[in-house]
Amino acid sequence: MADPGAKAKIGFIGLGLMGRPMAMNLLKAGHAVTVWNRTASRADELVAAGAKLAKSPKEAASDADVLITIVSDPPALEEVLWGKSGGVSAEDAALGALKAGAIYVDSSTVSPDLARKIAAACAAKGVKFLDAPVTGGDWGAKKGELVFMVGGEAETLKAAEPVIGVIGKKWFLLGPNGAGQTIKLAMNAILALQVEALAEALALVRAAGLNGEGLVEVMQSSMARSGVLDVKAPNLLKGEYVPSFPLRLMYKDVSLAIDLAKELGVTLPAAAAAQQTYGAVKAATKEDLDYSAVMKFWKH
Ligand SMILES: NC(=O)c1ccc[n+]([C@@H]2O[C@H](COP(=O)([O-])OP(=O)(O)OC[C@H]3O[C@@H](n4cnc5c(N)ncnc54)[C@H](OP(=O)(O)O)[C@@H]3O)[C@@H](O)[C@H]2O)c1
Repeated sequence: MADPGAKAKIGFIGLGLMGRPMAMNLLKAGHAVTVWNRTASRADELVAAGAKLAKSPKEAASDADVLITIVSDPPALEEVLWGKSGGVSAEDAALGALKAGAIYVDSSTVSPDLARKIAAACAAKGVKFLDAPVTGGDWGAKKGELVFMVGGEAETLKAAEPVIGVIGKKWFLLGPNGAGQTIKLAMNAILALQVEALAEALALVRAAGLNGEGLVEVMQSSMARSGVLDVKAPNLLKGEYVPSFPLRLMYKDVSLAIDLAKELGVTLPAAAAAQQTYGAVKAATKEDLDYSAVMKFWKH
């Protein structure tokens, strides 16, 4: 990056629950931001605030000092980077358009294998790549207080810090490319299990004719208290599941963790059970609900 300062030109791909507020914070910090989203209308607010709307992932990437992507899952990321028949054409895809010396930060949650494949493709072009999935929820994205789990080289992270620092409050360099995704998948497996365990315990308490508030109050005074309890217990008690981290994405992350475990020869019995529970709710629910809707498993 010619100017590693705070005013790097940013390309930003993926304007979902997370990407929209992240891109907005970069604009507010004075960066020139060129955005692309599959559904272009999701860029309206950003364009009104001064972002340039790219016609293709390629256009978002071609002039960027720093490209950031945050899309749903591995197929979505492969499509924007390399193209796919029936979707983004290979000609319009982002990766081939990145200039040598640019930094590419992927904040989607995908497999460590895909992160390493991207790193190799970037290295061949003289592009520096960080796998940098995030935690902190859409509220963390809005406040610019995300936490980044980073795989890659320290020097690249240092150069990206003026940009990452606008959208994040903490970042951890965890190892070579793929390490950020590995830690993210392990962490989300824990979050999935914590919320599933809470739902399971609530189902038990309610079946016994007691109300769930009592269980949560006791837990708040015990070793079982946690951030997850603070944030998700109200959803479970009220039965309100407005998507913050959608269940379809948690199911994807637990499935990616299980795939990784298979590759590594590790058995994850609890995660495998949670995959079944989340999968059953996902199959039975038409709405796009938060992952705390795993509670619905006990209402069928
Ligand atoms: N929400 C959270 O709390 C949270 C927290 C940490 C990490 N994450 C991770 O961050 C990523 C984004 O999450 P999100 O909550 O922002 O998801 P989201 O609201 O569902 O947004 C997904 C984004 O991916 C795009 N996309 C999906 N399929 C695509 C395809 N085939 N080609 C091109 N673009 C495609 C969507 O475009 P359209 O607008 O056209 O559908 C949208 O921009 C995921 O990997 C998720 O696991 C989310």
